[in-house]
Amino acid sequence: MKDLEKIVFDKLKDHPKRINHTKGVIQVAVELGRIHGVNEHDCYIAALFHDYTKYDSVIEHRKYLSDDFIKKNHNKTYLYHPYSGALALKEMFPNTSEEVLNAIRYHTWARPNATKLDKIIFIADKCEPNRLHEEARKIYNLALKDLDEALLYALESNIKHIESKNLFPHPDQIKTLIYYQTEKENL
Ligand SMILES: [Fe+2]
Ligand SMILES: [Fe+2]
Repeated sequence: MKDLEKIVFDKLKDHPKRINHTKGVIQVAVELGRIHGVNEHDCYIAALFHDYTKYDSVIEHRKYLSDDFIKKNHNKTYLYHPYSGALALKEMFPNTSEEVLNAIRYHTWARPNATKLDKIIFIADKCEPNRLHEEARKIYNLALKDLDEALLYALESNIKHIESKNLFPHPDQIKTLIYYQTEKENL
């Protein structure tokens, strides 16, 4: 096993499903990188580390996140790991590019004006082969041809899913959706 994989998979050793998920994200991200002309090594690193701090305690997240960030998102703790994961990677490997760190930071629902690498990591996370639902297959098939179509479809289906459980999507998630819907209308 490569050294970097050892770092990640040792940390996730009590979460075999997360390890399989991470491997699936790597597979799809590298494939999409090859198809869409994005550096495959960047795709690999961002995918490998995207859920690195997923199971960290709040105390561990606090090493990387400000009190303000923790307080503001205390009922959205799923937002801790993208940000702390990026900073943990930067601490271990200070030369990691901002592009890779941002792709980790924004993997939950991408962001307006996302880079191709951001889009690839967001999409690969939603449609890697261990995600068995029909929507995941549709996202994957769209992504082979068009990252923007896949991203928009993934955002829309995720928000529908949240609303179907009588929950509210995050305002930044809505903002991102509107950005890409508007972009498509203006094409
Ligand atoms: Fe994640
Ligand atoms: Fe993930």
